[in-house]
Amino acid sequence: MASSSPIFLALFVFLPLLIGSSEANFYYESCPQLLSTVRGVVQAAINKEARMGASLLRLHFHDCFVNGCDASNLLDDSSSFKSEKGAAPNRNSARGFEVIDQIKSAVEKVCPGVVSCADILAITARDSVVILGGPEWEVKLGRRDSLTAYFALANATNTIPAANASLSALLSSFQNHGLSTRDLVALYGAHTIGVARCTNIRQHIYQDKNIDTSFARSNQGKCPQKNGNGDNNLAPLDAQTPTRFDNSYFKTLVNKQAILHSDQELYNGGTTDMLVRTYASNPNAFLSDFTASIIKMGDIKVLTGSQGQIRKNCRRLN
Ligand code: HEM
Ligand SMILES: *[C@@H]1O[C@H](CO)[C@@H](O)[C@H](O)[C@H]1NC(C)=O
Ligand SMILES: *[C@@H]1O[C@H](CO)[C@@H](O)[C@H](O)[C@H]1NC(C)=O
Repeated sequence: MASSSPIFLALFVFLPLLIGSSEANFYYESCPQLLSTVRGVVQAAINKEARMGASLLRLHFHDCFVNGCDASNLLDDSSSFKSEKGAAPNRNSARGFEVIDQIKSAVEKVCPGVVSCADILAITARDSVVILGGPEWEVKLGRRDSLTAYFALANATNTIPAANASLSALLSSFQNHGLSTRDLVALYGAHTIGVARCTNIRQHIYQDKNIDTSFARSNQGKCPQKNGNGDNNLAPLDAQTPTRFDNSYFKTLVNKQAILHSDQELYNGGTTDMLVRTYASNPNAFLSDFTASIIKMGDIKVLTGSQGQIRKNCRRLN
C-alpha cells in the first residue's frame, strides 16, 4: 500500500469501483477464487465446443450496447418486463446462457451473493479470447446488475447494428455508445472467431458487388438464395482461422472475403480502409487496440456502489 493516510484510505474504500479498479482488487477479499473458478468453466465449455468462446464474447458486447454492461441481456421474460433474448439481434442467435448459468452456480458455491452477472460476462469474454489464442488483459470489476431488461432498446436498429448496416450507421452506433472509429474497427476484430447464419449473409453473397466471386460462390453452395431455405446454416466470420483469435479477419476484409455486408463496409473505399490494412499487416497493433477498446466497452454505463443488485441467478431478479 503506497499510503495509509486517512484521506487515501477513505478514497480507496469509497471511490466508485470501476474507475481504476483492477481485477485483483475488487473481489480480493470477498471472492479470492473468482478468477480461477470462471476460467475453469470457460475452458471446459470451449474444450467441448470451440465456437462457445465466440458466443460468450458476443454476450458481453450485447450486454454493454443495451443500456450499459449490467447483464440486462441475461434476464428471462418476467411479469414486469420482456426479455432481450427475443430482440432482433439475439433471437435464434445469442447463445451460451447455459454456460453463464454454470459459471454463476460455481461462483455462488464459493462466494454466495457477492459477484455480479455483469462482471461474470466481462471476465468470461476475456477468458474466451485468451483460451482461443488472443491477448490477455486485466478486467475492471465492480459492476452491478440491472433491475430490468430493455427489450425495445435491444430491438431498435441503431442499438446493436444489423448485418446489413452501412459504415455510417456503424460509426454512428458506436459514437452513440461513446466509442470511436478506432474502437469500431478494433472491436469488430472479434469477428475473427464465430459464425453467422445464412439469413444474415444472403444479401451479401447474392447481391453485393464488393465480394470475391469464388468466395461468394462457395458460400452460396451452403446458403440457398430463397428466403426461408437453410436460414440457420452457418458460415464462419473468419474463414481462414475460425476458432483462433488473430488478425486474419482483417486479411479477409482486404481480400473482399467478408461474410457480412457490414463487415465489408469496414473496407470498401471509406475512412476505415487504412486501419483495416494496418491491422491486417500488424497483428500486435490489432491485439493491443482490441484490448484497449474492449476495456472501454466494458465501462459503458455501468452500475456501481449500491445501484442495481447482485443477482443470485443471472436469469431473474432476486
Ligand atoms: C459493429 C457492428 C457489429 C455487427 C453489425 C455485428 C453483427 C454480427 C452478426 C450479424 C453476427 C452473426 C449472428 C447470427 O447470424 O446469428 C455476429 C456474430 C458475432 N459477433 Fe458481431 N457484430 C458487430 C460487432 C461485434 C462486436 C463489437 C463483438 C465483440 C466484441 C462481436 C462479436 C461477435 C461474435 C464473437 C460473433 C460470433 C458468435 C457465435 O458464433 O456464436 N460483434 N455479429
Ligand atoms: C423488432 O424489430 C424487428 C425488425 O428489426 C421488427 O420486425 C419487429 O416488429 C420488432 N419487434 C417488436 C415486438 O417491436
Ligand atoms: C436490412 O435488412 C432489413 C431486414 O432484415 C431490412 O428491413 C432493411 O431495409 C435492410 N437495410 C438495408 C440498408 O438494406
